[in-house]
Amino acid sequence: MTNILEIKHLCVEVDGQELLHDLDLTIPDGEVHALLGPNGSGKTTLVMAIIGYPEYRVAKGQILFDGEEITKLDITERARLGIAVAQQRPPTIAGVKLRQILDFVIENAPERAQEIDDLTRAFQMEEFLDRDINAGLSGGEIKRSELFQLLVTRPRFAMMDEPDSGIDLEALALVGDMINALLSKEPDRPAHRRAGLIITHTGRILDYVHADKAHIMLDGRIGCSGNPLILLDKVRQYGYEECIRCILGRREG
Ligand SMILES: Nc1ncnc2c1ncn2[C@@H]1O[C@H](COP(=O)(O)OP(=O)(O)O)[C@@H](O)[C@H]1O
Ligand SMILES: [Mg+2]
Repeated sequence: MTNILEIKHLCVEVDGQELLHDLDLTIPDGEVHALLGPNGSGKTTLVMAIIGYPEYRVAKGQILFDGEEITKLDITERARLGIAVAQQRPPTIAGVKLRQILDFVIENAPERAQEIDDLTRAFQMEEFLDRDINAGLSGGEIKRSELFQLLVTRPRFAMMDEPDSGIDLEALALVGDMINALLSKEPDRPAHRRAGLIITHTGRILDYVHADKAHIMLDGRIGCSGNPLILLDKVRQYGYEECIRCILGRREG
């Protein structure tokens, strides 16, 4: 099976400061990986580097998507390949309505009109369609709006940056349903799974969404990888402090 994402020896700088150091990460196609880690460990930086935000300069290393090197492609070219992100703190986009995105997708794929209408109702997005994107939305509503855009645009590889942060239990269940719908690929191919990367500080979303593998990030590196339930259990039982002690202990060898 091909790897949808392969990151080798990646060093990323912002404003001349190195934030990711010699990072390796491989995600086979069809797998969903979870990225855990304390605040400030570099999780969002990694997502920004993968999607290709210009401020995040790759100083060293490679990013391969579906076997092709994308390190030098700009953000638009990467989006066209099917890489997408539901951001942790997305900006408000004045003058652009959610409905315009739906209209654009339906114009290019008229056969999806009914499905998109169903998605809009299933995830209670009707009232947001005619507002500027993210304008005046609550934390939970922004998470839903970001995920809804992924559901409608069907990227090949979806990254979700803390879809579970700052939301109540009811919103969390809905967000979980949205991610599961997104990862189940197309409604007429439910057995086929979309590859993804779910970033979570608390791991709450993993009570709703199955991840194949989890990684714990520390200081701009992957510190530890393994079974998501076991890693999460350790984090919950002992906290990130103990995780950090364990990872640093192993690094010192
Ligand atoms: N644009 C930036 N300029 C300078 N430092 C940054 C920038 N973005 C992130 N950082 C720093 O990089 C580290 C990692 O941040 P981030 O990737 O947001 O971590 P996480 O998502 O794991 O909380 C933090 O120390 C943060 O302060
Ligand atoms: Mg972050």
